[in-house]
Amino acid sequence: MTTTTTNVVPGLSGVPVAESKICFIDGERGVLEYRGFPIEVLAEKSTYEETSFLLLKGRLPTRPELEAHVTDLTHHRRLKYRIVDLIKCLPDSGHPMGALQAAVAAMGMFYPVHDVHDAKTNALHAIRLVAKLPTIVAAYHRLRNGDEAIVPRDDLSHAANFVYMLTEKEPEPHVARVMDVALLLHAEHSFNASTFASRVTGSTLADPYSVITSAIGALRGPLHGGANEEVVGFLRELGSVDNVRPRLAAMIRTKQRIMGFGHRIYKVKDPRANILQALARRLCETHRSRLYDIAVETETVVREQLSAKGIYPNVDFYSGIVYEMMGIPTDLFTPLFAIARVSGWLAHWFEQLEANRIFRPDQEYKGSHNLSYTPIERRA
Ligand code: CMC
Repeated sequence: MTTTTTNVVPGLSGVPVAESKICFIDGERGVLEYRGFPIEVLAEKSTYEETSFLLLKGRLPTRPELEAHVTDLTHHRRLKYRIVDLIKCLPDSGHPMGALQAAVAAMGMFYPVHDVHDAKTNALHAIRLVAKLPTIVAAYHRLRNGDEAIVPRDDLSHAANFVYMLTEKEPEPHVARVMDVALLLHAEHSFNASTFASRVTGSTLADPYSVITSAIGALRGPLHGGANEEVVGFLRELGSVDNVRPRLAAMIRTKQRIMGFGHRIYKVKDPRANILQALARRLCETHRSRLYDIAVETETVVREQLSAKGIYPNVDFYSGIVYEMMGIPTDLFTPLFAIARVSGWLAHWFEQLEANRIFRPDQEYKGSHNLSYTPIERRA
């Protein structure tokens, strides 16, 4: 933890920066609610499409409203061929989060926004973004492997269609449902770094494509959405259950961070990690995973040694294992997070615009004053 003698609060920890009605978290009790609905209830009864409506509009839809929302999302899945061409020009070796960010920035040129206070067009831009992000990620993945991008299918759910566009195979219903729940679980999480980034950009009255581009950039870092990739890499590196205890002991002794553990808000196990672990366990019934066993042992050891500090698994700890078991390539884990979180980012963009004031925090200046300018030839 950085120490300071000033009024500065590093990382704005514990500083409320807005009033919000979107998401509630009680980090001591492990409670997470979207618009007042417990995450466990949504994971059991809802779908990503319904949850995105809930986040964007603030309430659950009626049946006709849900049908209209699903139709809208389905109709906006396709990409303009020039966006596909743009994706084709990106390096195969790049990170898919970069491709996603570039394609979303380009969308802002194809769909110019004239007035960010126009609720009707804002709703359309939001639908476009939620609908197209999976298509962009799947297209980049296909094209970098030398395959054709797959045209989305209108008869599949948001989750099933994403898996289909990646693999060219319609997923089994239970696999599609796991993907659906994983998306729903990642759809929103109050003022995390990427959501804050989206609200900061939104507060300048920038267009929603710029808002989402900022958020994607913030999500990418290993302390935020990038952690899920690192977790799977780390579990693979551990290699076996027997290696877990000695390796973690060394890491904890030398104060290294264990990816997928710890959270600014949760001081107990993240409720999403419980649900994702249950999904991983269910997938294990048909597909034994060595990584899952290593992960369970890792959790046991971290609990023994770090729970006094409030360090428990966060959402990223079991999500990567679930995706791995579904055959999703590791570098698509964070893009998957973005595909889900876009609904939350946009809900925050709407809320920010309702009572906007540009974010412009203050600082405590610690630099010099009134220095004399030495000509370059006389500088040491
Ligand atoms: N492994 C070991 N020790 C940890 C960890 C960890 N993963 N996380 C925090 N700590 C320790 C840290 O060393 C510090 O100890 P001490 O007080 O003795 O110096 C104490 O816990 C507090 O850490 P902090 O850095 O002040 O906590 P923070 O609230 O600023 O950071 C975090 C939160 C998520 C960045 C951090 O827990 C972390 O780096 N975790 C690993 C990365 C990760 O899994 N990120 C995903 C976060 S959840 C989903 C998302 O947002 O995308």
